[in-house]
Amino acid sequence: MSVYLDNAATSYPKPESVYRAVDHALREIGASPGRGGYHAAMEATRLVFEARETLAGLFGIRDSSRLVFTSSATEALNLAICGLLRPGEHAVTSTMEHNSVVRPLHLAERRGVEVTRVTCDRRGFLDPRDVAAVLRSDTRLIALTHCSNVTGTIQPVEEIASLAAGAGVPLLVDVAQSAGLLPIDVSDSGIAILAGPGHKGLMGPPGTGFLYLAEGIDPAPLVVGGTGGFSTDPDQPTEMPARYESGTLNLPGIAGLKAGAEFVLGTGIDAIRKKEGELVGLLLDGLAGIAGVILHGPLVGTERGGIVSFTVEGMDPAMIGFTLDREYGICVRTGLHCAPEAHHTIGTFPEGAVRVSPGFFTTEDEIETFLRAMERIVRGSAC
Ligand code: ALA
Repeated sequence: MSVYLDNAATSYPKPESVYRAVDHALREIGASPGRGGYHAAMEATRLVFEARETLAGLFGIRDSSRLVFTSSATEALNLAICGLLRPGEHAVTSTMEHNSVVRPLHLAERRGVEVTRVTCDRRGFLDPRDVAAVLRSDTRLIALTHCSNVTGTIQPVEEIASLAAGAGVPLLVDVAQSAGLLPIDVSDSGIAILAGPGHKGLMGPPGTGFLYLAEGIDPAPLVVGGTGGFSTDPDQPTEMPARYESGTLNLPGIAGLKAGAEFVLGTGIDAIRKKEGELVGLLLDGLAGIAGVILHGPLVGTERGGIVSFTVEGMDPAMIGFTLDREYGICVRTGLHCAPEAHHTIGTFPEGAVRVSPGFFTTEDEIETFLRAMERIVRGSAC
């Protein structure tokens, strides 16, 4: 039986209710949402509506039609970034971003958008004053991660949201590592856009994601086509959420995401955060006690997400990951984590680091198993 410590990539296992919901949608409902008036199609439509309402409730979104389902956080980020920015405009981001933000912004840059990358410190933190200093009259977007997928660093999103709102610039927050793990409430925050996956902290299946767009934020759709309504019009509808949901929706995925979000709501973000915080504390304490281990990211005792990254003097992170897997059956992610600029920022480029990310179902015994394995690996390399 392996020990799974890669919940930052995707959460595993899922709550039982998620497996049941996926199976029920696929086996018992079967029909396509928004595509028919018969009983099963109506049930599918209702399920999607309820899933939208559930996620809206989780994030303080007053009008759930402003939340659209996507296939991933990456698609949601592409939709927002590529759909909003025009040549000649200016965008701001940080040096701690995942490639799902880096690459769409780079593409926008090649199309004539100017992008300013605000440098974070060695722990991955962004200073809101540095963001304020680079805003211009032609800045149309600030795009930032809430919680780094490399270090677990939690950015001061509230402060940045308030300065963005003051400057009239939409703030896009990538909540890939925070949705379901940290409190997020867009209602009074000044956050204009949220993009996230369904399969990480929200515990849904892969192939699910979402994008929230505040009133007045209207990116060009990435994909146009059948929406189940407005069929005589060859133009893409302007109505939400249909404008951004062309093609048959992933009903089993959305059903599983709804069940995952219900699990999060039922358990409570505070309880999830407490449990993961304890596991992260054990990891940090244990790793700090192994000679040669260098911890990256926020200092011990600082609030962080459910991620711990480290390197070991004189050892290749990839070899550590390989040994953990082959000899101990422990799953971690090594290397650059699709975030090369973040590794530049914290000083671990180009080898990257070993990333350990426990989840809600991880046990203390599993953390102990990992720590004992690391002690042996490091001791073995010193002989
Ligand atoms: N973005 C995910 C990770 O960091 C896939 O592993």
